[in-house]
Amino acid sequence: TRSVQELQREIRRLAEEKKAVILAHYYQRPEVQEIADFVGDSLELSRKAAQTDAEIIVFCGVRFMCETAKILNPTRKVLHPNPESGCPMADMITPQQVMALKEKHPDAMVVSYVNTTAEVKAVSDVCVTSANAIKVVQKLPARKIIFVPDQALGNWVKRHVPDKEFIIWQGFCPPHFEFTAREVKKLKEKYPDAPVAVHPECHQEVIDMADFVGSTSQIVQFATTCPAQRVIVITEVGLKHTLMKKNPNKEYIFPDSMNYCGSVYCCTMKAITLEKVYTTLRDEINEVTLPEEIIERAVIPIRRMLELT
Ligand code: 13P
Ligand code: SF4
Repeated sequence: TRSVQELQREIRRLAEEKKAVILAHYYQRPEVQEIADFVGDSLELSRKAAQTDAEIIVFCGVRFMCETAKILNPTRKVLHPNPESGCPMADMITPQQVMALKEKHPDAMVVSYVNTTAEVKAVSDVCVTSANAIKVVQKLPARKIIFVPDQALGNWVKRHVPDKEFIIWQGFCPPHFEFTAREVKKLKEKYPDAPVAVHPECHQEVIDMADFVGSTSQIVQFATTCPAQRVIVITEVGLKHTLMKKNPNKEYIFPDSMNYCGSVYCCTMKAITLEKVYTTLRDEINEVTLPEEIIERAVIPIRRMLELT
């Protein structure tokens, strides 16, 4: 077996040789983030995927992210190092369920979080990410909004767009729902000088305790540049790697967890390993494919989102 460094060197060599771009989400393992050409939040990664002229995109993230890359840049070969890595939240709603909501509320627009399957996007009016959800929804012409699948992000948007009516699906992110207000309160008591940065996929009571709410990239920006020496960060632990890299002089406090690794993590994000990235790129396997008709329809809400932000 190869060492981590050997694998990383081989992956980078293959990427140059094959003119491949490696994209990674902040929740990826640190050693995977290190071999990426670009690490970012969902919105930034979709922009990068849309703009790249690389022949191959190796997407280190969960399936919906790879699908979004394929939808925005369908002539590229998009490779997913672990085809089993899905987002459990994305699987909490089906296109049939969206259609049923549309039938019930024909005057509403369907806003789907980018954490959805391509088939759900294909029946949506516009997509949003945690970085732009409020802005996008504010700009929509409809007064009635069907928001799927994340109840937390949906409720957060609803509170910021009081003039619209919301029908919110009850999906949720399992790791982000692990954080409790009680735990955050304890951390605040322990570190009274530290501001609290929270991802909007968290419970409302947790969001209520935040000094800053935003996407992973927005949290990085806030936590690394705010005047405080210490920041309490309520999101998946993978973000710590970038925070430490961008500003190692600060302390980033993540809540503990009862699981065996002691912190809250997204297991499907972590199911992408260096070994898998290596074999995927070497053999050009695990290609993401979607029916043409789905691509044609799903690109509309994604493009609309990019145009609105
Ligand atoms: P962002 O990186 O867009 O904030 O999303 C977080 C997330 O949970 C992606 O699955
Ligand atoms: Fe899905 Fe949550 Fe994992 Fe993001 S962190 S991929 S929303 S389960």
